[in-house]
Amino acid sequence: MKNNEKLIEQAKDILYKNDVDGYTVPTHGLYPFQWNWDAAITALGWMKTDESRAWLEIEMLLKGQWDNGMVPHIIFHQEVDSYFPGPKVWGVDKDIPTTAISQPPVLVSIVKMMAEQAKDQKLAQEKLTQMLPQLIAYHQWWYNDRDPENTGLVVSYHPWESGMDNSPAWDKSLAAVPPVTWQYKRKDLEHVDSDERPHANEYDRYLYLVDFFKKSNFDSEVIYRDCPYKMYDVGIISILHKATKDLVSLCQTSKVNEQHVTWFNKQIALTESAINTLWSDEQNSFLNTDAITKESFPVLTTGTLMAIYGELANKEQSAKLKILMKSWLDETEFGISSTYAKCAQYEPQRYWRGPVWLHINWLLALGAEHYGFNEESLQLKEASQTLIEKSGYFEYFNCETGAGCGGDDFSWTAAIALHWFL
Ligand code: DGY
Repeated sequence: MKNNEKLIEQAKDILYKNDVDGYTVPTHGLYPFQWNWDAAITALGWMKTDESRAWLEIEMLLKGQWDNGMVPHIIFHQEVDSYFPGPKVWGVDKDIPTTAISQPPVLVSIVKMMAEQAKDQKLAQEKLTQMLPQLIAYHQWWYNDRDPENTGLVVSYHPWESGMDNSPAWDKSLAAVPPVTWQYKRKDLEHVDSDERPHANEYDRYLYLVDFFKKSNFDSEVIYRDCPYKMYDVGIISILHKATKDLVSLCQTSKVNEQHVTWFNKQIALTESAINTLWSDEQNSFLNTDAITKESFPVLTTGTLMAIYGELANKEQSAKLKILMKSWLDETEFGISSTYAKCAQYEPQRYWRGPVWLHINWLLALGAEHYGFNEESLQLKEASQTLIEKSGYFEYFNCETGAGCGGDDFSWTAAIALHWFL
């Protein structure tokens, strides 16, 4: 790459700049706490400069784990008032305040990668042994809490849980959620242009759901029964599936109780069969589906393509997804837009409605590699390199121009560049 040394130095500087007492904020101001999937991905970047700091990132994240096993989507390690909604709005009364939902569970897969690539194997094995019970509890929580009827498909309760907040795949189900009736002031718009962020009508409903969790006393059974938003999110299901396979492999090498391996293998088999109910022959893709109305949404998003990363597509499905991925890639020179450009809801620079995200390019490249789609995997990597050379380390990028959007000096963008190609 051009300017490789300079880009490496800048990426490392971003990690150090965003380090706050052992955890890394995604970017100061806009996101001043520790986020779940950001932390995992950022730890991969730390592996390139300070392995013990990388392990600390995961330990800090796991400090926020709930007794029921959930690893929350945000850990509010300290009070900072540049973000809304903060810990008071979420109302979680714990030593370390957190939100009440989780996020795409890339965590175990990344811990496995860290252990495999660690130069300090003694440290890696020590950390792995220490955190494995917590990782097992996290995955048990996903299946027990989010799939209590053992269908093979976990449900998600909030667009923020998907990590792909304003993806058009959630539009219809979110519109069925009532808006909050109290007044509030968003802080994200003090940091980022409103045309790169979700709309007010979406925030009204995001907050209704936050209130609903609180009013339900965070009781899993009540929430499963009454939550007005329940989604079969192909992204979460796929990421969880891949991570559970990685967890089984970690349990086997660490000689953990065989019963865990058997139980997780049962969940893996259930999902491999149930995922077919989300397949659409018309769209030649898996589709996100409302778990309450059972309506599936024919909008193609990076979430739907995640089945490739999750290794959930069978031979026929993967052949069709390869064609889809190829034409998707041909629409932009910067990788996979978060919504397929031919979909009516596509907007090139509004957060998850079109922009390109570096970690998504990377996850999809891993999936493409797994299926032997070598050309697509290479195209994703080269497109990502072009993007970083052109625009640096933004949160996401306008998929037509490559211009940086959202927060600048962004931790996971720097981390993925360091891990993947710098
Ligand atoms: C936000 O506040 O925009 C975050 O995406 C929520 O996780």
